[in-house]
Amino acid sequence: MSVTGVVLAGGRGTRLAPLTDRTSKQLLPVGGRALIERVIGKLVQAGVEDVLLVIDERHASQFMGLLEDGGGTDLRSLAYVWQPARGSGLPSAIRQVRHHLTGDKFLVACGDVLFEDGIKEAVDAFRVQESGARIITVRTPDTAGYSPLRIAGDRVLGIGDKDRELHTEGHIDLGYYLYHSEVFDLIDGLGPSDRGETEIWDLNRIYVSRRDMRCSIISGWWADVGESIETYRSVDGRYADAGV
Ligand code: TTP
Repeated sequence: MSVTGVVLAGGRGTRLAPLTDRTSKQLLPVGGRALIERVIGKLVQAGVEDVLLVIDERHASQFMGLLEDGGGTDLRSLAYVWQPARGSGLPSAIRQVRHHLTGDKFLVACGDVLFEDGIKEAVDAFRVQESGARIITVRTPDTAGYSPLRIAGDRVLGIGDKDRELHTEGHIDLGYYLYHSEVFDLIDGLGPSDRGETEIWDLNRIYVSRRDMRCSIISGWWADVGESIETYRSVDGRYADAGV
């Protein structure tokens, strides 16, 4: 059963300003290759053959100029899906692919997150997962600023709120999710949060409340490249040093 990749490459990238004044963060070079190419490469390694790239109008031509029809990526197909630049949250961005998917299962990847480990096991586990959703997670010594996950085995029992002040060890939401197409009905039922957007944790908590959210745990280093200029520079240096 095929799993389509859905890579989220819109967003504002304000935390990387001024680097993102004239381009998207996913187009910034990381060790000489655009971040988005590295994210797509991760999906290819995991056996994903087809990718829908969600972009907004601000830097659409830059994405298309770089990736074209995906010929340089080892994908079977690459297509672009538009979302309004004034985005209204991750679930709303995900909803944009609804009528472009050809299969039932898909992997959502935030286009600004990189990690060392492969995710083939997670994708393969989801190929045979009959219902619910799956989230990729990593254990970190400090969950501050991320959504912490309470897990037991491969089951997610709870998703906490992001808290910049709470420094504790635990598993976090990395921005990689596996869904069946039923997710679109759930997104339709989501209301806006206090900041006026649909929120990914609200969506994922629906699966948790049904006891139908699984997780796959990765290890090794990881980076939310869009978090700060300092993080971006350190990831850029890591890839440059490794020469990959
Ligand atoms: P974020 O990093 O949470 O948001 P952002 O890109 O707007 O960054 P900042 O807070 O610094 O302004 O987004 C996570 C990923 O999802 C990132 O790759 C951008 C992507 N994204 C979309 O594709 N569409 C959207 O509407 C949003 C909010 C994010």
